[in-house]
Amino acid sequence: MSTTAPVLDKHIERVIVDQHQIADRVKAMAAEITANHPNHDEPLVTLCVLNGSVVFLADLIRHLPIRMLLGVIGASSYRGKSTESQGPSIWHRMHSPVDMKDQHVLIVDDILDSGNTLRLVRQTVEDQNPKSVATAVLLRKPDKAPPDVKAEYIGFDIEDAFVVGYGLDYAGEFRNLPHIAVLKPECYEHDGA
Ligand code: IMP
Ligand code: MG
Repeated sequence: MSTTAPVLDKHIERVIVDQHQIADRVKAMAAEITANHPNHDEPLVTLCVLNGSVVFLADLIRHLPIRMLLGVIGASSYRGKSTESQGPSIWHRMHSPVDMKDQHVLIVDDILDSGNTLRLVRQTVEDQNPKSVATAVLLRKPDKAPPDVKAEYIGFDIEDAFVVGYGLDYAGEFRNLPHIAVLKPECYEHDGA
């Protein structure tokens, strides 16, 4: 389980998905995305939902042997030390040279939890009249997202626990863990609850 970083490892209760499982699955997802890309003469716009999907996206795109462009969008439901979703807000729509009109867009996010974030991101993309939209998430917590929020590509279904690593944070930290893990209970501060 070691990350070779005892300063991080000491906070981990258990690893849910290890780095080898992640690497294999990301490759398989990229193969699926490549196979489904409707027209190899047209680029795929991969849209990175900041900040949590940067690690996933960086690995995923290196297994896409197709034309692609990169865009970013900032969205957040968890703020500070909360592990409860506080409702979505597009907190920063970064200016990007990538215009999504008439493009094939792949939204890339770390996790589909309540679905509120992805609903808002997808609506924001659809408002720009893309040619096609699909969503890839590394993780999904089962039975939480309502039926109207879908992801075409899902890495792993995981238990309903607050997880960190491979881009996912708690209070801004632990994004650099190479695996998906649950922290020890004493690491989570409870927001007055
Ligand atoms: P949703 O809007 O509830 O689906 O939440 C999605 C966003 O909340 C994700 O993109 C993550 O940034 C964050 N999030 C949801 N669950 C977790 C978790 O278990 N650990 C870390 N961040 C999470
Ligand atoms: Mg996120």
